[in-house]
Amino acid sequence: MKNLKQSVVYQIYPRSFKDSNGDGFGDLRGVIEKLDYLQKLGVDYIWLTPFYISPQKDNGYDIADYYKIDPLFGEMADFEQLVEEARKRNIDIMLDMVFNHTSTEHEWFKKALQGEEKYKNFYILKEGKEGKEPTNWVSKFGGSAWAYREEFQEYYLHLFDVTQGDLNWGNPEVREEIYKVVNFWLEKGVKGFRLDVINLISKPEIFEDDTVGDGRRFYTDGPKIHEYLKELNENTFGKHDDVITVGEMSSTTIDHCVKYSNPEEKELSMVFNFHHLKVDYKNQDKWTLMDFDFHMLKDIFKTWQEGIQEGNGWSAVFWCNHDQPRIVSRFGNDTEYHHESAKMLATTVHMMRGTPYIYQGEEFGMPNPHFNSIEQYRDVESINYYHILKEQGVPEQEILEILKSKSRDNSRTPIPWNDEENAGFTTGTPWISLGDSAKEINVKNALEDPNSVFYFYQKLISLRKQYPIIAEGDFKMILENHDKVMAYTRTYENKMLIVLNNFYAEETKVKLPSNIIERVEHSDVLIGNYENTPSLSGEITLKPYQSIVYYVGLNH
Ligand code: GLC
Repeated sequence: MKNLKQSVVYQIYPRSFKDSNGDGFGDLRGVIEKLDYLQKLGVDYIWLTPFYISPQKDNGYDIADYYKIDPLFGEMADFEQLVEEARKRNIDIMLDMVFNHTSTEHEWFKKALQGEEKYKNFYILKEGKEGKEPTNWVSKFGGSAWAYREEFQEYYLHLFDVTQGDLNWGNPEVREEIYKVVNFWLEKGVKGFRLDVINLISKPEIFEDDTVGDGRRFYTDGPKIHEYLKELNENTFGKHDDVITVGEMSSTTIDHCVKYSNPEEKELSMVFNFHHLKVDYKNQDKWTLMDFDFHMLKDIFKTWQEGIQEGNGWSAVFWCNHDQPRIVSRFGNDTEYHHESAKMLATTVHMMRGTPYIYQGEEFGMPNPHFNSIEQYRDVESINYYHILKEQGVPEQEILEILKSKSRDNSRTPIPWNDEENAGFTTGTPWISLGDSAKEINVKNALEDPNSVFYFYQKLISLRKQYPIIAEGDFKMILENHDKVMAYTRTYENKMLIVLNNFYAEETKVKLPSNIIERVEHSDVLIGNYENTPSLSGEITLKPYQSIVYYVGLNH
C-alpha cells in the first residue's frame, strides 16, 4: 500500500495532454502513450480531470453520464487498459468526481424538466421572489446563480454555469445515486478520488439574500457538510484502506479543513484550499491586475502549514491546476530566470508538509501562452467575464491584459512534447492554440538537459521517498518579516531541514536565527537550484530566485 505522505500526485487534463487519433483533443490513449514519461518523473498517482459523457460546456465538469466515457476521450476499454498499464508502472489512478452539480443534459435533469417529481427533487428548485430570482446569489462564473425554466415554473440553482444544475444533497435518493457512481469506479480499480467543489454541497435550510456578499457564506462549508462526507466515506471509499481522497474546498476555513482531513473523522484524506492563490487579487476580485502580495502569501502559508500539523489533518500542497495560471509566469519569472524561478517555486511547495500535486507541464516549467485576442480563448468563465468587463466599460486592451494573466486557459494549452508541428501534441488541429514558447520549452528539450526543471522535480519526488523528515516533519515559518525570502524549517527527531527561497530577481541576504544555528551539529545541502551553494552559516547571500534546502543534524 502506498504511503500518502510520501506520495506525489500528477494531474492530467486529458484534452490537452496528448492526442492519439488526430482529432485535436487529447485522449486516454494519449495518456497511455506517455506513462513511461510519468514513471520516469516518479509520480505515484495520476489524477484525471473528468472524461465522462458531457456537452463540454465547462470542459467536462458538466457531467451528463457518470458511468460512460465521452467519445472525445475514448472508450471504457481504453480506461481499463490505462488502469492496468499504469499499475505496471506503480502508478494508480485518481478520478475527478463532480457531485455538486450535473449537466442540464443529465437524464435526471431532463426527467425533472419533463415534470417527474422524483427528479425535480434531485435539484434545487425555488419560486421567484416578486418576479425576480429567489435570492441575489451570484454564480461563480458571473451573473445570477438562478435560472428560470418554463417547464418548472420555477428557478433552479446553478452555482457555476447555467448548464450545471446544483444537486439536492438533502435528498437521500441523490446521495444513494452518488454512492453507486463511486462504487462503480472503485470496482474498476480506481485508487483515488478528487471531489470537485465538495464543500459547496450542503445548502442552507432557508434561502435568503446576501446583503454583504455573493451568497457564498450560506453554502460554503454548509450546515450538513461533515455529515454528508462521513456518510459518503462510510458507503464508498471508506470500505477500502488503499483509496485516497482529496476535496477541493472553495473559500474554506482552516477549522473545517482540519475536520475534513483528520483521519479520526473519517471524511477525506486531504484537502485543497486556495487562499494562497488569491494574493494577486485586488480587493479579492480575480478579474483585476495586481502584483502578488508576498507578505500575504507568507502569512497564509504560515497559518495553514502550522495549523494543520501532526495528528489533526493533512493538506494537498500545490501551485497549479487547470483553473490557475501557470506559476512560473505568476509568482516566478518566465523570461530571464525561467529555470531558477520554476525550481525555486517547486522547492517551496515540495518541501512543505502535505502531499504535493504537480499539474501537467509544471514539471518542465511551462509558462502562460500569452494569448493576444479573445478568439484564442475557449473557457466559459473567461468568455463570460470578457463580456461582463466589456459591459462595465473596461477597455478591450485592458480586458485582454487581465485575461492574459488570469484566464483558466493559461493552464489549458496543449503539452508541447517536442519542437515539431503542433509540438507533437496532435497531427490534427489543436482545440486551443499552443503557447508561444512551445518551440523552446517542451518535454524533449527538458529530457535532453540534465539541469532541466524536469530533473529537478524528479529529484524532489525521490527525496520525499528517501527522507522521512520531508513527509513527517513539523513545519515552522522563520524569517517572517523578510521581504524577499520565504524560509521555513521542518523538524523530525533530531534532524532539521532549513528551506530558503528567494522569490525575487535580486540578490538578498538572510540572517538565520541564532537559536537554530547554535543547534547545528553538521549540515549538507539536500537540493539547490544553482550550481554553487553556500554552506550553512549565520548569514547567507541568496542569488536571484535561489533556493536551498539544508539537511541538518541537531545537537539537542
Ligand atoms: C472546480 C473545477 C473547475 C470547474 C468547477 C465547476 O472548481 O476545478 O474547473 O469549472 O469546479 O465544476
